Amino acid sequence: MPATAYNTDQWLAAAKYRRTIYGLKDTSPVPDSRIEEIIKEVLSFAPSSYNTQPGRITLVLGQKHKDLWDDIITVAEPILKGFGVWDKMGPTFQAFRNAYGSVLFWVRGESVKESQETHKAAAHMFEQFSEHASGMAQIYVWTALELEGFGANLQHLASIPPVEAAIKKFAGVPDDYSLKANMNFGEPAQPHPEVPAKLPTSETLKIIK
Ligand SMILES: Cc1cc2nc3c(=O)[nH]c(=O)nc-3n(C[C@H](O)[C@H](O)[C@H](O)COP(=O)(O)O)c2cc1C
Repeated sequence: MPATAYNTDQWLAAAKYRRTIYGLKDTSPVPDSRIEEIIKEVLSFAPSSYNTQPGRITLVLGQKHKDLWDDIITVAEPILKGFGVWDKMGPTFQAFRNAYGSVLFWVRGESVKESQETHKAAAHMFEQFSEHASGMAQIYVWTALELEGFGANLQHLASIPPVEAAIKKFAGVPDDYSLKANMNFGEPAQPHPEVPAKLPTSETLKIIK
């Protein structure tokens, strides 16, 4: 018997339930305090290399989420128009704006530097480790929010450096923070999607025994 009351199949089913959901409403099925509790809980246990904890989170809710997206759109629109993709991206960005909130996942650069000093033999790995750790926190938050009745999707706005700068300014984070992902969430405005098709395990898994 495992030492915990938690069942492996339930854990896997919960993880499998998480999906990318683009159709979101600006409503929440729970009080804001519950969302805050979920984020704090994830921060209390999510792993990081050598437990160095380079991750930081900003939670943006309600009208502030729309204000954030207004700033993003103001900066992104002329840039994406220049690439000829605004006709396609504009409605997508408006749909993100129409969500209830967003979770901004940062890595604190000073923490990475400190880890590189403390663990010199592995110094070249800490940038990558910080991204792994952020991804782990992201998947916990994403799954928990969807189990709570939200839909959510994951975006990477650091791909447009002036947009990342605008988000940093909005959030008031220090210069050494870098944005790893932002997760939009709200009550779903669409049916819960199925798991998309995956490669056969004959291609993705090798068992050696
Ligand atoms: C590392 C990573 C980066 C992703 N980046 C984006 C993104 O920038 N924009 C987006 O719409 N979806 C993004 N996604 C969502 C994927 O497109 C999605 O997870 C995939 O199509 C499978 O669908 P599912 O999330 O429902 O399982 C990302 C997912 C992962 C794991």
